[in-house]
Amino acid sequence: MTKKILFIIGSLRKKSFNRQLAAKCAEMLAETGDVEIKTLDYSDVPFMNQDVEAALPAAVSRVRAEVQAADALWIFTPEYNFAIPGVLKNLLDWLSRPLVPGDFSSGTAVAGKKVTFCGVGGKNATKNVRADLKKLLDFIRMEVVCGEGNGFSADAAAFQSDVLTLSDADNEILRKQAEEFLKAL
Ligand SMILES: Cc1cc2nc3c(=O)[nH]c(=O)nc-3n(C[C@H](O)[C@H](O)[C@H](O)COP(=O)(O)O)c2cc1C
Repeated sequence: MTKKILFIIGSLRKKSFNRQLAAKCAEMLAETGDVEIKTLDYSDVPFMNQDVEAALPAAVSRVRAEVQAADALWIFTPEYNFAIPGVLKNLLDWLSRPLVPGDFSSGTAVAGKKVTFCGVGGKNATKNVRADLKKLLDFIRMEVVCGEGNGFSADAAAFQSDVLTLSDADNEILRKQAEEFLKAL
């Protein structure tokens, strides 16, 4: 059966290395299994504000529905100052909230949902953001596949050209994660 996988990119920039990594990963997933892949557009989600939670903003309802419709999520994220980029953290904060505002027994869009993640960054290959993300995703009761995922370093040429080129070894690491993820679905 076709598995619906929703990609979430932790960077809003058009030429994002993480967006490029996601494109590569989509090819690998399609070569490995029967998948339908969509990328979540969450650029219009407002800042979390409990004052507006009861009359849920339309953008939050939309992203929540897209997450609920997916079998699993794959997050691709850079590291900002050793931590989770604000836009991604904001999205996950919204997704962590109960489906019925104030009713904590109503479930959330993400609890029990399978998720994996990886990231491209500088020299430390997103080590810190991935450790933080694992803690956050465990806390919001997502089912994390592949532990703290895999990290990749963009080299000087990539930073100059805005084009990410993965080594054969990196491609192999990403392919293994894609295989392990699909096996878990
Ligand atoms: C606010 C900010 C903070 C950053 N902090 C880190 C960092 O802590 N570690 C790191 O490896 N790179 C850091 N970077 C560099 C990013 O890894 C780099 O800009 C990367 O290309 C961003 O991902 P993207 O290409 O997907 O947008 C930071 C970039 C920004 C904009």
